[in-house]
Amino acid sequence: MASLSASSSSSSLLTLLSLARVSGFIVAALVISWALLFNSSFLPHSSSHEGLIYAVLHPLLMVIGFILISGEAILVHRWLPGSRSLKKSVHLCLQGVALASGIFGIWTKFQGRDGIVANFFSLHSWMGLICICLFGAQWLMGFLSFWQRGEMRAVRVKVLPWHIFVGLYTYGLAVATAETGLLEKLTFLQTNRNVSKRCPESMIVNCLGLSLALLSGMVIFAAVSPKSQSLRTKLLFTESSTKPE
Ligand code: HEM
Repeated sequence: MASLSASSSSSSLLTLLSLARVSGFIVAALVISWALLFNSSFLPHSSSHEGLIYAVLHPLLMVIGFILISGEAILVHRWLPGSRSLKKSVHLCLQGVALASGIFGIWTKFQGRDGIVANFFSLHSWMGLICICLFGAQWLMGFLSFWQRGEMRAVRVKVLPWHIFVGLYTYGLAVATAETGLLEKLTFLQTNRNVSKRCPESMIVNCLGLSLALLSGMVIFAAVSPKSQSLRTKLLFTESSTKPE
């Protein structure tokens, strides 16, 4: 009975992970198609080639580099076999890559003609800044605690629920920030560049927003759902402790 429930729980986790991968793949395909097929929408005022590259790089780095990779890093503990320290190192490395992409992605926005002073007037930019600061602080804490050994283990156990909460909150905030970025960009295109509300570009951007919402649901659900291993242990423990002597 216990092994039946454990195997059904691990198969539902497998389904969740597959759905998260499929939605991640759709997100990547949509943002790349937008950047390649409609790159004239990213042309800055200056119309320079360099400016265009920076403008296209921002959504690509934020969506693929920051959101997709940090989602993968969250899922590492759910599927990667091997020791805890291996899982922790892969988790830390992937989060490091996501953080670097996020910082680089925001940096691209400072390459425009107006520099830093003209920025940070939108809800999107404020949310983005809070998000990257939280992410950076969380990564630093994770990095420092990774090297702690011995009696610090008790502190780590106490800090873990906070690490999970702040991690998932920041991930959710990143997705919400990307949604505001998409909305801001699309509103700008529809009001200033004659992009129609029903044209393929608007559809791609809307579908991208929807797939991001779907992806974040899958990743967060997979992250909080019980692991088959711990469930099996719990069930076996309950069974053996309730058996008559
Ligand atoms: C996790 C995802 C994202 C984060 C953390 C983020 C962060 C930021 C930050 C901090 C800025 C401010 C820099 C400035 O004011 O020049 C900014 C600007 C901008 N972002 Fe994003 N971004 C994300 C995703 C996106 C996406 C998907 C788009 C879609 C095209 C986008 C479009 C823009 C635009 C148009 C600006 C310039 C206007 C403004 O400052 O609001 N962003 N982003």
